[in-house]
Amino acid sequence: MNNINIAIGDSKAIISNQTGIHEKLTQVVNKHLEHEFKKPYQQHTEQAFNAVNKKVQAFLLANSPAEIILDACCGVGQSTRILAQQNPHALVIGVDKSAHRLDRNVEELMHLNGSGQVNNFHLVRADLNDFYRLVKAENWPVSKHYVLYPNPWPKSKHLQRRWHGSAVFPQMIAIGEQMILRSNWRLYLQEFQSALKIVGISSELNKVNKSSYALTPFEAKYQASGQQCWQLSTVK
Ligand SMILES: C[S@@+](CC[C@H](N)C(=O)[O-])C[C@H]1O[C@@H](n2cnc3c(N)ncnc32)[C@H](O)[C@@H]1O
Repeated sequence: MNNINIAIGDSKAIISNQTGIHEKLTQVVNKHLEHEFKKPYQQHTEQAFNAVNKKVQAFLLANSPAEIILDACCGVGQSTRILAQQNPHALVIGVDKSAHRLDRNVEELMHLNGSGQVNNFHLVRADLNDFYRLVKAENWPVSKHYVLYPNPWPKSKHLQRRWHGSAVFPQMIAIGEQMILRSNWRLYLQEFQSALKIVGISSELNKVNKSSYALTPFEAKYQASGQQCWQLSTVK
């Protein structure tokens, strides 16, 4: 599994000009809560959504109860495959905008408890700024919604590129009975937690246990570099 990242063991900790929660966080989150995100969908994401939605609807018809797990920003899809293996009755959908990452053949590098292939998952190339809105409109019954190691955008001026500062935040957090985020930048998750609090959602921030196996190549890279990884999980 560790071969997936060339730079393994050589990852620098996040450096930011921010020392605490962004001073404009509340203002930005409230702006997005008050104004519906109406940007037209990109054609490629709409097509990709329509194709995977057919598979999801067929799965929902054939299974009762039916569980969908969403793995957003899945990169090469390692976590998607692990989650599929751990949840054999669920359908796991991994989404990433990078075709280059999705096309990497990680299966042969993975040791899924020695049990080989899993097939209860789909990888989709799509932009989550659109995909989230489409999932919300279609009301997929998502049990768990993972966002593992999102791009941190550590510069203060890039707050709105972070998921909690994005226009799609209201739809994003409406997906899944539980959201689970991981990052090597604790402040990213503290900000996400503060943004969740604005809409009355509670969450817990914990260390990712180093002895547990890495869910993703980025997690493996950070752990090999001695960096602490963090997990934010929503709680009811
Ligand atoms: C730091 S990587 C983490 C990948 C993977 N979760 C891991 O831990 O190995 C962040 C991923 O988010 C994806 N991403 C960023 N913005 C996105 C968007 N708007 N829609 C879909 N994917 C996005 C990138 O393509 C990239 O693969």
